[in-house]
Amino acid sequence: MKVIVGNNEQISKLIAEEFIKQVNEKPNSVLGLATGTSPLKVYANMIKAYKNGKVSYKDVVTFNLDEYIGLEGTHNQSYRYFMNDNLFDHIDIDKNNTHVLLGVGDYLAYANQYDELIKQAGGIDLQILGIGSDGHIAFNEPGTPFDSLTHVAELAESTIKDNSRLFNDISEVPTKAVTMGLKSIMNAKRIVLIATGKNKAQAIYNLLKGKMTEEVPCSILQKHPDCTIYVDEEAYSLVK
Ligand code: F6R
Repeated sequence: MKVIVGNNEQISKLIAEEFIKQVNEKPNSVLGLATGTSPLKVYANMIKAYKNGKVSYKDVVTFNLDEYIGLEGTHNQSYRYFMNDNLFDHIDIDKNNTHVLLGVGDYLAYANQYDELIKQAGGIDLQILGIGSDGHIAFNEPGTPFDSLTHVAELAESTIKDNSRLFNDISEVPTKAVTMGLKSIMNAKRIVLIATGKNKAQAIYNLLKGKMTEEVPCSILQKHPDCTIYVDEEAYSLVK
């Protein structure tokens, strides 16, 4: 794994440049997208590039990592809402080509098709990941099998606590999610992970220096052939 250290502005710009290059080289690229605070500036840079005429996303296909169970796509904390609000509504992407797991209705049937849909689209060319303070990627919490495909997951206590900052009250945070599995993520041709802040330092240490174990879900990335970890000084502080 390659590591790049910079402040949030710098690493977000570099990751956005990777996405823009990917799309310019292959206009019908399949992009794997994440929600959360970590990719926000990446998406802002991707929007800016579109507005400046540097890229078009009109033939791009996207697959998002996860969705809370129980939230409609119109709920302002659902991941469908997040993606529309922070990226899709501001670029020329065809929303029919944007895939976000369902949190309501027959979410299980859709989840069961998800890996096949990704495969039929040609596989993910470039996947962005954030990381949880407990080392989760997507909603694969400690103990998730390395060979997992898209499935229903229980959120860890620490994740519910971390994510409660975005809800009125911790009791409103969903306790379950649908998520791409660790194997689904590892199938991506290239992966970039972004982590900033002290809260991520232990997870980044475990990712870069720890052993590969299902107790640390992100550690599976150690065996990905093309993965770059973008961190700020704080997230990197235990490694140095
Ligand atoms: C979001 C996701 C999660 C987040 C992680 C970090 O789609 O898959 O794994 O990447 O929880 O969240 P932030 O970026 O909010 O710290």
